Amino acid sequence: MTARSSLTIVLAAGEGTRMRSGLPKVLHPVAGQPMLAHVLAAAPKGERDALAVVIGPDHAAVAEATKRLRPDAGIFVQRERLGTAHAVLAARDAIARGADDLLVVFGDTPLISAETFARLRVPLQQGAALAVLGFRAADPTGYGRLLVEGGRLKAIREHADASAEERTITLCNAGVMAFDGRKALQLIEKIGCANAKAEYYLVDAVAIARQSGLEAVVIETSEDEVRGINTKAQLAEAESVMQARLRKAALEAGVTMIAPDTVYLAADTRFGSDVTIEPFVVIGPGVSISDGAVIHSFSHIVQASIGKNASVGPYARLRPGTSLGDGARIGNFVETKAATLEAGVKVNHLSYIGDAHVGANANVGAGTITCNYDGFAKHRTEIGEGAFIGTNSSLVAPVKIGAGAYVGSGSVITKDVPDDALAVERSPQTNREGGAKRYRELKTKAKPSKG
Ligand code: UD1
Ligand code: MG
Repeated sequence: MTARSSLTIVLAAGEGTRMRSGLPKVLHPVAGQPMLAHVLAAAPKGERDALAVVIGPDHAAVAEATKRLRPDAGIFVQRERLGTAHAVLAARDAIARGADDLLVVFGDTPLISAETFARLRVPLQQGAALAVLGFRAADPTGYGRLLVEGGRLKAIREHADASAEERTITLCNAGVMAFDGRKALQLIEKIGCANAKAEYYLVDAVAIARQSGLEAVVIETSEDEVRGINTKAQLAEAESVMQARLRKAALEAGVTMIAPDTVYLAADTRFGSDVTIEPFVVIGPGVSISDGAVIHSFSHIVQASIGKNASVGPYARLRPGTSLGDGARIGNFVETKAATLEAGVKVNHLSYIGDAHVGANANVGAGTITCNYDGFAKHRTEIGEGAFIGTNSSLVAPVKIGAGAYVGSGSVITKDVPDDALAVERSPQTNREGGAKRYRELKTKAKPSKG
């Protein structure tokens, strides 16, 4: 890698009106993360690499997201939206610190890769003043056209200013530019606004560099990598490109997917070895799946960690804060939230386990509900190691079921149950009590040593 220092400026001051949304454009998610997060992740991030994000005057949410994602980033506000060159100059103080390479990228191109930034920096090491990322557009309408003469980049012409002949050019400006950091400011400051939109266009730096006898070059990439997002339709297209990338990477890493096109992943999903994901699974942000785990069809998982050889679904919903131990089994129509289920726990059918800790090897019967909410606050449920919760029980939190305890089916438990106790609460006098006793007898027989 290069030993040169860099400053990456991310332009994100645009209104994004075509998204028709109250959310600032760069915060719309792709694969579970804001577009901006993808761009920031691709930007150089070594010790000598700085970052600046240019935001609009009412973009407090973008500033917050930036601080969370990259606390080291400088945040600059562009008060008036007078064009891309004007936006870059909002970060003048950062530019003036004089990095070797100045990189400019738009906040709405989430598919850009770190390799492309590295490729753009190579010509600068070789003496070019400016490198522009170009691509062959299937439909170039709206893009700036790259005017190349004798293999050298001469100028960039915005669509609105282009002649009919220039509009036939399909080699377009992707919007990412790399400048020699020592020459950048003097080039950008010379940019005027004599064009169809009366905006200060960053692309004019190319013609200015050439007039000053400096060299500008084009580095080409694929259209998929530089899709700019202006509309919800383009957001959906970017999502599908990103999903294809994530599925390919997962398959290459050894994940088994029977129908990968039906599986949705997040950019930060982590897999162990020999993981299997059945068709129609949705994985949101913050999920890790350990070795040998199987995710059955129609499961929905967000911010959860899944232990080795665990089994989830079909039709399971793991919500944020779920942690499954090794070999745990979550069956159909089970929902979990802020719950730790230790190794070997079984919750096989139709349950809600929220704000709970379930000890190793406990068995939670069908229809068990942790009643965590009293209309005012959330309360915790503790289920001890090896406990057995009979079907259709309501555990009214805060409540603690002791290790090895047995709760008869249909119970509504409102008081703590001591270790190894039998609890049958508010159940009619049915054979449930008998069932509890029988269970205890069988358990004693199976393990005579345990009293
Ligand atoms: C821009 C390029 C065009 C290129 C295309 C690729 C310029 C002048 N044109 O056109 O050559 O083919 O992208 O998608 O650079 N922004 C600000 N402040 C401003 C203006 C823009 O922060 O005052 C930001 C926007 O938020 C956006 C980016 O700069 O992230 C690009 O602006 P946009 O208006 O989308 O430029 P395009 O017309 O798409
Ligand atoms: Mg654009």
